[in-house]
This record gives sequence, C-alpha cells and structure tokens, in this order.
Amino acid sequence: TERIILDCDPGHDDALAMMLAAGDPRVELVAVTTCAGNQTVQKVTRNALSVCAVAGIDVPVAAGAAGPLVRPQMVAPDIHGESGLDGPVLPEPRRAVDPRHAVDLIIEEVMAAEPGTITLVPTGPLTNIALAMAKEPRIVERVKRVVLMGGGYTRGNRTPAAEFNIIADPEAAQAVFAGAWPVTMVGLDLTHQALATPEVVERIAAIGSPLSDFVVEVLTFFGHTYKEVQGFDAPPVHDLCCVAWVADPEVFTTRSAFVAVELTGTWTTGMTVTDFTDLLGQAHNTDVAIDLDHGRLWDMTVDALAALSAG
Ligand code: BDR
Ligand code: CA
Repeated sequence: TERIILDCDPGHDDALAMMLAAGDPRVELVAVTTCAGNQTVQKVTRNALSVCAVAGIDVPVAAGAAGPLVRPQMVAPDIHGESGLDGPVLPEPRRAVDPRHAVDLIIEEVMAAEPGTITLVPTGPLTNIALAMAKEPRIVERVKRVVLMGGGYTRGNRTPAAEFNIIADPEAAQAVFAGAWPVTMVGLDLTHQALATPEVVERIAAIGSPLSDFVVEVLTFFGHTYKEVQGFDAPPVHDLCCVAWVADPEVFTTRSAFVAVELTGTWTTGMTVTDFTDLLGQAHNTDVAIDLDHGRLWDMTVDALAALSAG
C-alpha cells in the first residue's frame, strides 16, 4: 500500500479526497494536515474533523499554517461557502485535533518512516509543505513523491492564468516545484475532466448510507456554486484525482516538463508556466497530468465510499 499524508483545506473536493484515501485498500492514510485555503485554518480543520466523524476515519488531524508565506490571505467562500464545507450538516468531531503543528507532524512522520515510502498529497495552498522543507530540508530526499492539486497548463480559475491553490501562496508553490523531489502536478486541465455528473451522484446515492447521503449533499452544494460562479454543468472534484493516482497511476496519463510558478506577472502571477517543448532548456521537474480515465476514477470512489459505509 501507498502511505500518504493528505495536506488539505476541506473543502468539498478535499472531503472526497479524504474519503478515497481512507476507503481505498491500496492507500494508507497516515495523517491529515490542514492549511488555510478555501477558508481559515480554524474552519477547515474543524471540517476535516467532521469529515473524519461522518466517514469513520481514525487518523491524526493536525492544523497548520494560518496564512500564506508572503501575501495577504485569500479564501474561497464563493465556491465552498462560509464554513468552507457548506451544504451538509457537519457532525460534531469525534476526536481532538493533534497537538502538533501540521509542519511538525509532516516532518516527524517523514523522518520516522523508511526513506522513499511516504507520499505527500497537498490539495490546498502549499504553505505547510514549503514550511516543512524550510524547517527540515532532509524531508525532500526522504519523501517518495509530491502529488499536488494545483495549477494548469492551459487555464486558471481564480484569474485567467492562475489556479486557486497556487495563487493563494505562489512563493510556497514555487518552492515545492523547485524542490529536488518528484512532483506530479494535477492541475485544472486534468481535474476539469473529473466531473461529478448526475450519473455519478446517482451511483453514490444508491449506496444508501449516512455517508453516501452526506457525499450527495456535498456534491449538490458544490454543483450549485460551480454552476453559478464558473458555469459548469457538473462540479469538477479536483482533489480526489490526486489520491486516485496514488491508488492507481493508470487513472491518468502524465507528461514530464519543467514547471515554474510566475511570481511577478502583472496579470499572470500564480501561473504554472509549463514547458512541454523545452523552450527554456531547463531540467524537467514535474510529471504533468493530462488525460483522465473518468470511469476508473468514479469506480474506485464508489467502491471506497461503499467500503467506508460498511464500516
Ligand atoms: C482547488 O481550489 C479549491 O477550491 C479546491 O478545493 C481545489 O483544491 C481547485 O482550484
Ligand atoms: Ca482543496
């Protein structure tokens, strides 16, 4: 099994990522860490604990950075609501937040594990990961891979050029791409293929458990905001794709390239500049996700939700 630390900001699609990580037999969820992103770190941490309660996930949850390294904080209530996970009733947490800071949890787990066995899966702004690199640089050679949701090579969603997780903390994102570890970029070009269509929502509803009811409410709210704000007919469940790839790398294809984050553009700050044709002559630092197997993604997700529902 693949051991992962999920660093997230739940967040509707983050919540689904947590569930797949806990419910898929090919993945071992070591811990959940949280970072300010879709909402404040207090709110997203509380959401993570509620998701653990409803899904029966019993792993440490540690709170991390309250804001980006350099820039003013950015949150996304237009997409995720005031709580960061609007829609369903959020159950009372069943476990307390871990006493460690997320950055210390990441460092401790990575340094304690066999080298090359822990995969970091960031699905929010990259602040915690950048701070962990700065505090304990040896994690970079010990981590197996970073599989991050962020960026895109043809589009943005917060600006025409920039995706939310990257523009929310571009300096942190650039540090992660530039790190000497393997990085998989699961950007908007990929995640906009991961639509929770009515057929998908139907399949989840058919599980018929309190958890599947919760997920249907999550996807219904997410569907409404994505329709209103971005004009989508079905919501793209971005963060889920990172965990899906860890479980089964055949769920999407990748292409290697040099990727850098624009930090000084007037209109393009936060863009993930992706050099597929080696125009810049830089060494490749990223495997960029290209084509999704939609059926495979939702089969494994429905299976994981059914497994969690069975307890
Ligand atoms: C990303 O931003 C957040 O709103 C989602 O949770 C996802 O991680 C998509 O741009
Ligand atoms: Ca997220």
